[in-house]
Amino acid sequence: MCGIVAYIGQKEAYPIIVKGLKRLEYRGYDSAGVALLHNGDLNLYKKQGKVANLEEFTEGKNILGNAGIGHTRWATHGRPSDENAHPHSSTNGDIALIHNGIIENYASIKSELKSKGYSFKSDTDTEVLTILIEDIINSEGVSPAEALKFALKQVIGAYAIVLLSKSNPDQLVAARKSSPLVIGIGKEGDFYCASDATPIIEYTKKVVYLEDEEIAILDRNAGLKLYSLDDVAKTPYIQKLALKLEAIEKGGYDHFMLKEIHEQPRSIKDCVRGRLNASEGWVSLGGIKDYEDKIIKAQRIILIACGTSWHAALVAEYLIEDLARINVEVEYASEFRYRNPIINENDIVIAISQSGETADTLAALELAKSKGATILGICNVVGSSISRITDAGSYTHAGPEIGVASTKAFTAQVTVLSLMALSLAKKKGTISDSKFRVMLTELEAIPQKVQQILDKNDEIKFISEQYKDASNALYLGRGNSFPVALEGALKLKEISYIHAEGYPAAEMKHGPIALITEEMPVFVIATQGPSYEKVVSNIQEVSARKGKIIAIVTEGDKVVRNIADHVIEIPEVNEHLVPLLATIPFQLLSYHIAVMRDCNVDQPRNLAKSVTVE
Ligand code: G6P
Repeated sequence: MCGIVAYIGQKEAYPIIVKGLKRLEYRGYDSAGVALLHNGDLNLYKKQGKVANLEEFTEGKNILGNAGIGHTRWATHGRPSDENAHPHSSTNGDIALIHNGIIENYASIKSELKSKGYSFKSDTDTEVLTILIEDIINSEGVSPAEALKFALKQVIGAYAIVLLSKSNPDQLVAARKSSPLVIGIGKEGDFYCASDATPIIEYTKKVVYLEDEEIAILDRNAGLKLYSLDDVAKTPYIQKLALKLEAIEKGGYDHFMLKEIHEQPRSIKDCVRGRLNASEGWVSLGGIKDYEDKIIKAQRIILIACGTSWHAALVAEYLIEDLARINVEVEYASEFRYRNPIINENDIVIAISQSGETADTLAALELAKSKGATILGICNVVGSSISRITDAGSYTHAGPEIGVASTKAFTAQVTVLSLMALSLAKKKGTISDSKFRVMLTELEAIPQKVQQILDKNDEIKFISEQYKDASNALYLGRGNSFPVALEGALKLKEISYIHAEGYPAAEMKHGPIALITEEMPVFVIATQGPSYEKVVSNIQEVSARKGKIIAIVTEGDKVVRNIADHVIEIPEVNEHLVPLLATIPFQLLSYHIAVMRDCNVDQPRNLAKSVTVE
């Protein structure tokens, strides 16, 4: 939530910052703004809406300066507006600040500052922090960096911050707690700073990920200096970025979401590479290998996640319980952390998160850790906060996911979780050799089967056309297809704003059936498997009420074809792996419907990809 970019060095800052903000727009797009230092002046340009609005606003203006900060906002305190847009400046105009996070005690600080005579132009918590820093500079006579340190000791909450000041024009000061911040080290005193590495990657591969409660001073003459909040100097740990520029560009597709949907044969292949060999009959997740003994002896595994990642966790519950016979509980991170959960050192808590930055998931993990549990992570973003605080984990290797609606990250999560379930089952002896071998072969064949479904794009687009004007939709599935139904419904509502609900097919009788009319599309997963006949009965129930049925079936199915309005065939696959295939048509359906409804597919309203606030 909220994207931060900053630059100091020899080059013009504005183009670097604006390009970076566009890369970070997935983190929020309620407003965008920049502040630049030029010839001793600190100039701010801010506009409600997307970065494009800011560009329109600045067109024709000669925006100069080789030190600057920029921000793209996902509103928390204060509605989206020009005034509430970052950067915020001090009342004397000497400092400007960008912030991602929430200052929870901003109200009390604000009233204290008001009593000292300060006035405020916005409703934001960030302006309060900016003026608090100004007040400390005024009263203590310290530098902006020192004042920031003092201020951060007073605030409660989460932050990634970059500060620019007139008095120290050769420096940017950055700090973080709970919200991510990466520093890029360029040539000849060039420094970059951003919420993730995507704005930095084309300038340098040398980065430092800031840790919680660290302050960095990026000085174009004196270099990079790192301190703890208590002023202890630290040595920066410089890492080399593996990210490639092509991975964060659209590559000829109309939208990132479409590109990412089509990348899935490759991303799933990347996810299993080196971890699975069907002909030799082994599976190995290096990242968690050392913890497998502990996991199979554990009384239970608790999977915590939010959004789409929570749906992947639900799929994993079926996989791990059935194959490895270990009790699995799936929790929304936001609920788990606030209900005094019973956890002890025998528990294994696994966080699933694409970004590795989701505030609730991070906090839930920290809670589990404090109670002695072993904490593991399944993340996509390398070097993310969750991947760094966990005892061990496995990356999904899906590559950067930029579309706000998660697609390839979901299938990569399910793939890693399938590998994990198989590995645990083998170690525990709960799977026969023959079944193990069959499943490895099936898993290895998934990328090619995903491609076969993607090749049906035109057919799926045609079906989308029929339902683009629906107001409501129902998604039904049983067993491990129930989470796929939830995910299908989430995709549709996120990007096309059609109200959609996912339901266990049999539960339909207990409520949603009342909604079924001729107008209601009902998307059903009716692939071959133990509950096939039961799902067919549920489809009959929908049909009897004249609902429109769009069914995902196994190739060659004749029964459902006779009842449904449309069928989408997917290749035959082991029942445990159905979610990896059945989810693909739903992604394409949502995509096409959203495009036909003229919705902004990659940046749906009110959403953000990385939710770094509670
Ligand atoms: C946001 C995103 C979703 C994502 C969820 C959890 O809501 O829009 O796509 O599933 O956060 O994010 P995570 O990065 O933890 O998987």
